[in-house]
Amino acid sequence: MDISKVIIPAAGLGTRFLPYTKAVPKEMLPLLNKPAIQYIAQEALASDIQQFLMVTSKGKNAIADYFDADPALELFLKERNKTALLNELDKIARTAHFSYIRQPEPLGLGHAICMARHAIASKEYFGVMLPDDIIVGATPALLQLIRIARQERASVIAVQEVPEEYISMYGVVSIKKQFTPNLFQVANLVEKPNKKDAPSNLAIIGRYVLSQKLFKALDEVGYNQDHGEIQLTDGITQMSKDGEKVLAYKVQGNRFDVGTPIGWIKALISLASQDPYYAPHIREFLMDFNTTTSFVYNSTKNLTPTL
Ligand code: UTP
Repeated sequence: MDISKVIIPAAGLGTRFLPYTKAVPKEMLPLLNKPAIQYIAQEALASDIQQFLMVTSKGKNAIADYFDADPALELFLKERNKTALLNELDKIARTAHFSYIRQPEPLGLGHAICMARHAIASKEYFGVMLPDDIIVGATPALLQLIRIARQERASVIAVQEVPEEYISMYGVVSIKKQFTPNLFQVANLVEKPNKKDAPSNLAIIGRYVLSQKLFKALDEVGYNQDHGEIQLTDGITQMSKDGEKVLAYKVQGNRFDVGTPIGWIKALISLASQDPYYAPHIREFLMDFNTTTSFVYNSTKNLTPTL
């Protein structure tokens, strides 16, 4: 099974991050010195995917600009022996092919994915990565799904267990059959169920490998009556009803929802605490941090250098 493309829907309004998202796409939020979208691009490349179908909308041009080459900046850095600062971006520019596709109106995640259907061939399987979900672990999350999709010749959805008090915030998987501790066959998906109605504790997180049959299924389900949007979960449920094998796989890795300020702050602290350069500074700062006096001027602490 050849999987060479990933659709990255990045056309949402980002209302949970207002007012910041009024002017800057949430995909450009910094996580250490890189924007969130770069973690997505690097995960895709590490999963051996090189064709990126980026679905964007009004006000999101900063994403395309960011991945463009910048010869003047490169020359400036070369003259100062600082080209290493752009090494990771350079690798992305050399290996990835970006196509930018517009979603003219925010009519839902399913609708955003449909904007890229012309780029997917009949019988092709493709990845979907939601840039809000940053997943950090030993094996790239998308690669974990691709391996299962190839082995089982099936569509695969990433899931993680969530405590029952949070289940109503997620799309949740209803299980038809369990194959291994981490692999399940999906009966259907339920969007944001009440705690008592949740069919499992397996929440869908933003990585998928899907069959091209999804597009026909999305046509069949159309706009959801409650929200007026085309929902991906409805489409996947329909695809499963139409006979496509849909699996759920518990991906290994720490997942952060950087589409909300709290999730973003947690991601930032976690990434900084694990980075050899930032970790000593952050640990020292947090150990010393006193919530009651942190805004009180302290001449010694104010001298701690930030590099
Ligand atoms: P969200 O549900 O997080 O919506 O979308 P959002 O608009 O981005 O953010 P909030 O809820 O208003 O804060 C999940 C993913 O689907 C994409 C988003 O960009 C995000 O990656 N999406 C959503 C679209 O591309 N188009 C849409 O119409 C809706």
